Amino acid sequence: MKLIFCLIWSCLWCGISAHFRSFTSLVGIGEPNRRPSLIGTSLRAATLNFIIEDFIEQKLDHFNPTDNRTWNQRYQAHSEHHTAGGPIFLLLGGEEKISKAWLRDGSMMEYAEKFNAMCFQLEHRYYGKSYPTDNLNTTNLKYLSIKQALADVAAFIKTKSKKYQNSRWVLFGGSYPGSLAAWARITYPHLVYAAVSSSSVIKTRIDNIDYFKVAEKALTDYNPKCVSNIRQATLMISDLLDTENGTRYVQSKFRACYRINPDVKRDVRQLFQQLSLPIARTIQYNKDNRYYSNMEAADLSITSLCDIMLDRSLGNSFDRYVAYHRKIRHVLKRQCSSYSYQSSLKSNSEIYWHQGSPQSGDRQWFYQLCTEIGNFVTSNEDDHLFGNTIPIDFFTDLCTDVFGEHFDLNKLKKAVHKTTMLYHGLKNTTSRVIYLHGSFDPWNGLGLTEPKSDDSISIFIDGVSHCADLYTSSLKDPPQLSEARETVIFYLNKWLTEN
Ligand SMILES: *[C@@H]1O[C@H](CO)[C@@H](O)[C@H](O)[C@H]1NC(C)=O
Ligand SMILES: *[C@@H]1O[C@H](CO)[C@@H](O)[C@H](O)[C@H]1NC(C)=O
Ligand SMILES: *[C@@H]1O[C@H](CO)[C@@H](O)[C@H](O)[C@H]1NC(C)=O
Ligand SMILES: *[C@@H]1O[C@H](CO)[C@@H](O)[C@H](O)[C@H]1NC(C)=O
Repeated sequence: MKLIFCLIWSCLWCGISAHFRSFTSLVGIGEPNRRPSLIGTSLRAATLNFIIEDFIEQKLDHFNPTDNRTWNQRYQAHSEHHTAGGPIFLLLGGEEKISKAWLRDGSMMEYAEKFNAMCFQLEHRYYGKSYPTDNLNTTNLKYLSIKQALADVAAFIKTKSKKYQNSRWVLFGGSYPGSLAAWARITYPHLVYAAVSSSSVIKTRIDNIDYFKVAEKALTDYNPKCVSNIRQATLMISDLLDTENGTRYVQSKFRACYRINPDVKRDVRQLFQQLSLPIARTIQYNKDNRYYSNMEAADLSITSLCDIMLDRSLGNSFDRYVAYHRKIRHVLKRQCSSYSYQSSLKSNSEIYWHQGSPQSGDRQWFYQLCTEIGNFVTSNEDDHLFGNTIPIDFFTDLCTDVFGEHFDLNKLKKAVHKTTMLYHGLKNTTSRVIYLHGSFDPWNGLGLTEPKSDDSISIFIDGVSHCADLYTSSLKDPPQLSEARETVIFYLNKWLTEN
């Protein structure tokens, strides 16, 4: 969530396989690991055939009574744990397609067994197979908004409640969907009884400088030299880009697919932004219990990153940084990496559902960032992790180039202000929301770590990263993570047994 914000480069990889999108970009939560209790015991569990998939008719515009256009939203259902009178657990989809694996594995299903819950997962409009419009041109994208997405959730609950009368609905979500779960609780309190909001990003900003600050702290906890060597490598790259020779050297060392032109500011920013992503990604998804078809991908962690950055035998800081990127390319089975602004612009400008960027959700997510969310991950001061190499206008220029001249910094400022206004009520008034955050998660700075309402709680889990609590539990989990899940169960039990 979840929610990392970078689409820009993820589209360059999407040809490979669906699993890799969340691996190479900072968005999405992928799929949870298999639950050990289900492995080998049940062929049905393996096939996922017991999970029903269907579509529900939704209004294109919930807020315009004269517009009667509709579309079909995908959802999935799992009823095996449900007994009459049990609650309903709804996992919200976000900026990627939904996967049935989340209705088999992951912590929500572990809770569902305990509470005899009926389980649903609802795909977010404009992602996966939930197509509200013919194509994704800028005119059509205007129905992609947080407000419309929350109204979809409300309509879904209303429709399904006809069958499950008097059942209490508990919403779950990680990253952006975690924010939606909490926002749905304040927007539709009569429909949403409680929410479990994992690693949600509630405070919206345009320029998210906190991200790399938290990331830096996570690396420093491991070894302070790890950070200074990454900083040093960035400085060395900047210096090399001053000469033609040096540029060629950088190009060949980082296996650029296209020539890097150091005179084009956007290309240079694109290069630094893309080089920062594998580092960010490594920290954001450090040792989560995610399913990887490629075991080497599961191995990428703060430890493996810093071990390389501290390894003298590999050469100077630049050489070690090159070595980590080589390792990433190896895991991704890539020959080269594109650091070109033009190719990023091109892929984000695709408007048909089955093309790369719309198919992976990158264009849609970028639209949401440019119009309502912001939170662009920047590094724009000399003492930031990547120095002054990733300024905010790198992103806002891309917004304008992809969606048109109205999509500029000013528009975004107004929109983000509105998003903040709409939802700042969460802080004081909303009851029955559980917020969970990990100390290594670079997004935690924008989360609600101190809710003010008496009946909402926030759990800060030391030593884990983004959405850690949402994945399948494992015997290898640190005790504080297991405790956090027990706390969730405690509160759900308390709230669900109240009259
Ligand atoms: C939508 O509304 C228009 C006029 O308001 C009407 O002609 C049309 O039949 C309606 N379509 C549906 C599917 O109800
Ligand atoms: C967007 O696509 C719709 C068809 O879905 C079309 O009617 C509209 O004119 C297009 N808008 C632009 C700006 O291309
Ligand atoms: C450029 O590279 C060549 C070959 O590696 C080297 O001989 C030359 O000294 C370099 N020139 C500069 C200005 O670094
Ligand atoms: C929330 O409560 C804090 C003090 O606890 C107060 O400063 C703030 O103004 C309140 N915000 C709203 C939106 O009520």
